[in-house]
Amino acid sequence: MSEDAIVILKDDHKQIRKLFREFRAAGEDARATKGHLVERIIELLTVHTYLENDVMYPQVRHLLPELDDDILESYEEHHVADVLCMELWSMQSQDEHFEAKTTVLIENVEHHMAEEEDEWFPKVRSGLTRTQLRELGRAMIAKRAEAPTQPTTPSALKKALDALVG
Ligand SMILES: [Fe+2]
Ligand SMILES: [Fe+2]
Repeated sequence: MSEDAIVILKDDHKQIRKLFREFRAAGEDARATKGHLVERIIELLTVHTYLENDVMYPQVRHLLPELDDDILESYEEHHVADVLCMELWSMQSQDEHFEAKTTVLIENVEHHMAEEEDEWFPKVRSGLTRTQLRELGRAMIAKRAEAPTQPTTPSALKKALDALVG
């Protein structure tokens, strides 16, 4: 497995996109299937945004201060995803808002991941050395073991709050 931070984050994105595709492909009436898929989506997003908020973003902010604006925008986009994940977490898949809320979550996260991959990662890749990217990757691999998988876990809530108050 690669220790390169960007490879690790892109791999997470790939798994998240796969679940998005499965959600879209599930039939209109596949309520139970969609409920399970959304649980999985929330888990992956909670871990991924935790790793980015706690390791990647602050470290890159420190090493490449010129990328500050991008990172601040990313924190806000994570916050929107956090709010939607939190609401979906406590919602039944039979709820009339479930489908629409999930669609808005997917659209927001797709936009955010595309921005990271098309604009942000290339800047980070060219600004940092391979060794720095490997160090960041190793820090995220270590952190993944303790990452929350539910949006209501205290460390997930703390991550969400820290991102807002800086
Ligand atoms: Fe992100
Ligand atoms: Fe990401």
